[in-house]
Amino acid sequence: IFVSPSSRVVIPCSVEEYQVGQLYSVAEASKNETGGGEGIEVLTNEPYEKDGEKGQYTHKIYHLKSKVPGFVKMIAPEGALVFHEKAWNAYPYCRTSESTTNNEYMKDDFFIKIETWHKPDTGSIENVHELDQETWQTVEVVPIDIADKSQVEPSDYKPEEDPALFHSEKTGRGPLGPEWKKELLAQTDVPRMCAYKLVTVKFKWWGLQSKIENFIHKQEKRIFTNFHRQLFCWTDGWINLTMADIRRMEDETQKELEEMRQQGSVRGTTASEE
Ligand SMILES: *[C@@H]1O[C@H](CO)[C@@H](O)[C@H](O)[C@H]1NC(C)=O
Ligand SMILES: *[C@@H]1O[C@H](CO)[C@@H](O)[C@H](O)[C@H]1NC(C)=O
Repeated sequence: IFVSPSSRVVIPCSVEEYQVGQLYSVAEASKNETGGGEGIEVLTNEPYEKDGEKGQYTHKIYHLKSKVPGFVKMIAPEGALVFHEKAWNAYPYCRTSESTTNNEYMKDDFFIKIETWHKPDTGSIENVHELDQETWQTVEVVPIDIADKSQVEPSDYKPEEDPALFHSEKTGRGPLGPEWKKELLAQTDVPRMCAYKLVTVKFKWWGLQSKIENFIHKQEKRIFTNFHRQLFCWTDGWINLTMADIRRMEDETQKELEEMRQQGSVRGTTASEE
């Protein structure tokens, strides 16, 4: 078990706005990852209440074939190219687990847990996940700048998803210049928030530890970066939606995904070789 570097993503919107923006972007992005028998299947999406925590529980299955990098195929048992994602969204705190089976917590050979705190600041909280000091000492903090093109893999770059180019008609936000975070800090009346991500990984293939660690760090950073660049550039699509709109949209997306998974060709992010 190891804890990955902890990403901090600052976004120029409020914590309340982001809740809608995040769900909207997840639903939109899912459509581009689905087609030709691959992609995302939504099994459950319903409210939950557990140990005093209330939120929305989702269980999704990722059906992957072409999108898995070579070495995962190598070590993954037959049929393991199906990932279960379970998310407990008790916003502003969310916990997500990814594993290759539908097992209980941490019983799997390969298991990833992502915990996120969303806070109305620019990433200044030290140990927001309240890890014990010994563990926290080992955790590297990785700031992600959504407007910094150099943090994006060239094959992932799309000008229409570049916050340095995007201007939101509805909010007047963007484009974000190179000094946008400093400018945000200097102002007090502009909304801001930070997604603090903590990723914990468990796997049993000891010989491959550093290879897997590196691969996961790289993929995480890539996913968090691209996702938040999209989210910001789609501001005008979600800024005026309510949570009721979002639940309706999720229902529609779920049906569309089901149809798309059955037909069409493979689309979306193809995993690069490590
Ligand atoms: C899907 O891909 C198309 C073409 O690359 C792009 O224009 C669109 O914005 C994408 N939508 C999502 C939801 O990623
Ligand atoms: C949409 O959101 C923007 C930004 O929050 C706000 O200024 C505008 O009044 C909203 N429009 C509607 C129709 O709600």
